[in-house]
Amino acid sequence: MTTHSATAIAHPNIAFIKYWGNLDHDARLPANGSLSMNLAGLETRTTVTFDPGLPADQLSVNGERLSGPKLARVSRLLDNVRRMADLETFADVHSENNFPAGAGIASSSSAFAALGLAASAAAGLQLDEQELSRLARTGSGSAARSIPPGFVELLAGESHAESYAHSIAPPEHWDLSDCIAVVSAEHKAVGSTQGHQLAETSPLQPARVADAPRRLELCRQAVLKRDFQTFAEVVEHDCQLMHAIMMTSQPPLIYWQPATLAIIQAVRAWREDSLPVCYTIDAGPNVHVLCPRQHRQTVEGKLREIPGVAQVLVAGVGGGARLA
Ligand code: DP6
Repeated sequence: MTTHSATAIAHPNIAFIKYWGNLDHDARLPANGSLSMNLAGLETRTTVTFDPGLPADQLSVNGERLSGPKLARVSRLLDNVRRMADLETFADVHSENNFPAGAGIASSSSAFAALGLAASAAAGLQLDEQELSRLARTGSGSAARSIPPGFVELLAGESHAESYAHSIAPPEHWDLSDCIAVVSAEHKAVGSTQGHQLAETSPLQPARVADAPRRLELCRQAVLKRDFQTFAEVVEHDCQLMHAIMMTSQPPLIYWQPATLAIIQAVRAWREDSLPVCYTIDAGPNVHVLCPRQHRQTVEGKLREIPGVAQVLVAGVGGGARLA
């Protein structure tokens, strides 16, 4: 009886154009295309060992043994790998994040990208970038974007085959920084998976989805031309549209806290004052404040002065998922 093991590293990503809502919840086929950058310095490292001696899959994250729905979600991705590799062995999965647990950084993107790469390598599969991205998507939609490097677009696609992510520019293309203002480290009450299902209960969602290709193209061009002003406007607009869906879903999802709004107002005022900076917010209260790298210290200092900001984490543009 032999064991087969592999370790992979992946970065989380922050979306400029958001994925919110699915065409197919089970397959995680996103309702609209999305665009993000990987976050350098923040990473998940995952080791998968297929072991014929195991009676079931087992999972530990940051040293804590997990079961229930979290293990079931990991097992679903492992099932896909087992099917592809014609394997019946269970696996031991060890995962560590180097960023603080509960810092409000969505770790499902880096988690399922690292899991997909480690599991497929441990199973002896040699998947190309597109295949890995699709596999990661089945674990978490945003994880598809943590497979390729740098600035990454996830295609909406009407089938599993059509919905994968690809790089639109390498990390060195544009030296952007993400200053993450942590407002609350509490675990969110309603996670993204449930949130995607609620999106269709908002009467605004069809309008948001219909206009997504236009925003995506505007953002893609702004990134390619390093045009910060256009980038800032479309990133904030897209964020507001997603939060409008959340707030008008039934039941409503209101992720913002008072400090979230204080940061939004401050960032807008700084930009009026000609500091190149903009914000975006995921399914939580923390605010990702984007700026060209040369302004990161100014932005970080200003964010720390806002009451309610507990800490600020700073990340640059990261590479793709890789084997360790
Ligand atoms: C608000 O990828 O976290 O961060 O597929 O259920 O894991 P699941 O959802 P997830 O959704 C991402 C939502 C978002 C926007 C984005 O990253 O595009």
